[in-house]
Amino acid sequence: MMKNHEKTYTTKANFMLHGGDYNPDQWLDRPDILADDIKLMQLAHTNTFSVGIFAWAALEPEEGVYNFEWLDEIFNNIHGMDGRVILATPSGARPAWMSQKYPEVLRVNGARVKQLHGGRHNHCFTSEVYREKTQKINRLLAERYGNHPALLMWHISNEYGGECHCEKCQHAFRSWLKEKYDNDLKALNDAWWGPFWSHTFTDWSQIESPSPIGENMVHGLNLDWRRFVTDQTISFFENEIVPIKELTPDIPITTNFMADTHELIPFQALDYSKFAKHLDVISWDAYPAWHNDWESTADLAMKVGFIDDLYRSLKQQPFLLMESTPSAVNWHTVNKAKRPGMHLLASMQMVAHGSDSVMYFQWRKSRGSSEKFHGAVVDHDNSSENRVFKEVALVGQTLEKLSDVVGTNRPADVAILYDWESNWALNDAQGFGLETKRYPQTLQQHYKTFWEKDIPVDVITKEQDFSSYKLLIVPMLYLVSEETIARLKTFVANGGRLVMTYISGLVNEHDLTYLGGWHKDLQEMFGMKPVETDTLYPSDKNYVSYRNQSYELKDYATVIELAAAKTEGQYEQDFYANTPAVTSHEYEKGKTYYIGGRLEDAFHREFYQELINELALQPVVSVKHEMGVSVQVRQAPEQDYIFIMNFTEEKQPIVIEDHLKDLVTSAELTGEFTLEKYEVRILEKARNHTR
Ligand code: GAL
Repeated sequence: MMKNHEKTYTTKANFMLHGGDYNPDQWLDRPDILADDIKLMQLAHTNTFSVGIFAWAALEPEEGVYNFEWLDEIFNNIHGMDGRVILATPSGARPAWMSQKYPEVLRVNGARVKQLHGGRHNHCFTSEVYREKTQKINRLLAERYGNHPALLMWHISNEYGGECHCEKCQHAFRSWLKEKYDNDLKALNDAWWGPFWSHTFTDWSQIESPSPIGENMVHGLNLDWRRFVTDQTISFFENEIVPIKELTPDIPITTNFMADTHELIPFQALDYSKFAKHLDVISWDAYPAWHNDWESTADLAMKVGFIDDLYRSLKQQPFLLMESTPSAVNWHTVNKAKRPGMHLLASMQMVAHGSDSVMYFQWRKSRGSSEKFHGAVVDHDNSSENRVFKEVALVGQTLEKLSDVVGTNRPADVAILYDWESNWALNDAQGFGLETKRYPQTLQQHYKTFWEKDIPVDVITKEQDFSSYKLLIVPMLYLVSEETIARLKTFVANGGRLVMTYISGLVNEHDLTYLGGWHKDLQEMFGMKPVETDTLYPSDKNYVSYRNQSYELKDYATVIELAAAKTEGQYEQDFYANTPAVTSHEYEKGKTYYIGGRLEDAFHREFYQELINELALQPVVSVKHEMGVSVQVRQAPEQDYIFIMNFTEEKQPIVIEDHLKDLVTSAELTGEFTLEKYEVRILEKARNHTR
């Protein structure tokens, strides 16, 4: 199948971006250091810097008094070394004078406590004053730098997140609700199951955002609040970019997305599938805790790959790694240095999954305050000779060889469906195992088999087109609207294979359960219905027999009532022993599969291998390797770029049958070779056939 491999639009650069957050505003009284920066940037093989992210106090030291001269110089210096600037709008943090004069910009938390000035990422998204002030400074920045030849892209604010519960936000929330429910309070009460605990509203003004000291049990309210927070954040963002779009319509716009740590899952608090529509380019800040003591390097790499594939799939185009650390961060419980080789490997993994950049937080370590020990390219020694600096320079040299990879995408026949709203609703659900819902982690578990087998996966969202995939995997989609059910049905009817699991399809878009059992369309598609969900204690044991093997089950088991479906696997124990645990059903031109329990990885390997065989899903190139080595591919019209990465602590034997060219050394490579611990090879293969 030919698809997805036209060069797509990421930046206007035809080279890989390498650089990062540069905060010269912390060093304005040290011209010697600013001069060293430019020399060191070249030694580090860097070319692009995000500037001005938290520089509002330096740009507007007093209300209406501006100081751009220092930024002019930075722009010119970076341009002088043929570098590029990603210019940030400064709304992520504000000068003290503003909070003092206009307290409405300060956030109010869920307990209705107004915050003091301090920290960052803590403004009210509704405040007219803050919206006006951000637009004004953004306009001045666009006017002054919009035509600067070094300007590559806009970095709007920084890591949008959080929520405000002030009166202005309450008002905005009520207006949002009125619009959503067509001014019909009864419709809202119906959607929120109002009569429960006498929670029927008789006037819009009675509605308050969820609060630990007030309402927090009305699930429809909680869900609508989360949706509102996403929409209000986007509305703030849209307000920020008005002058930017007007004055610099050709400069692409991004904002840096996040992930949630410690387990490394997609950021949960904002619905990025909505936000993505407002951006030209997706970028994100990746801080995996490499070398931690709770998971293997390969397992962590798999989770990074999952988030990359989700954020890449949001726009089906390459993305940018906007921040990463060249060594350690300062906010993990243990801030471990990246071991030798890990920096190149981790950076190339991002490129392998679709990034057109490797960027850092930050260029130079701060001297004071909370980030003074956060890893940076330039340490307090100001040296280009230390290990970290040298490893950064090596990444830069490697990226210089990868210009042809810029703009290329990744092909995928398999998609996993990720849904922010369903995750919110499921986390809110008081039921099942309160500690074991683990929706994002469950998706990563399904993704793992494909990652191990080098089969590319898109991680898509419910509004995206399903039709180009052969296999769609939809684990734990607790909340599903009739509209999504209809789209899934069309996908299967047209020949798609669909996998669903336990705790799926239980509530609609208002978080109201479906009545009369599982949705009739799902029953028809799956030829069965789930009738009970059993939740297991960690000490409970059960197993599923599947293809004469026994697989361990944890946390959830669904009791299934069979109609036309075929039983593929059965529970071994408990009151549902010998009843169906895994089923399949042919529906129109396609086929569905239901996995009733949370099963171990070994089951997924076996289960998905059959589908892989049946659907002839293959890696783009055949590379033989052991577990812990990952092979990822980016495709240009004539070339495949193949990244072979060793995420283990041992040497790994590799066998390739093709004749490939090493993009870094230009050597020809074929047959057997060895990858050292954490080694990565980037290879090119001319493609003379279509997939
Ligand atoms: C990011 C943030 C940066 C920096 C970094 C440290 O979340 O955007 O400004 O604080 O974390 O890891």
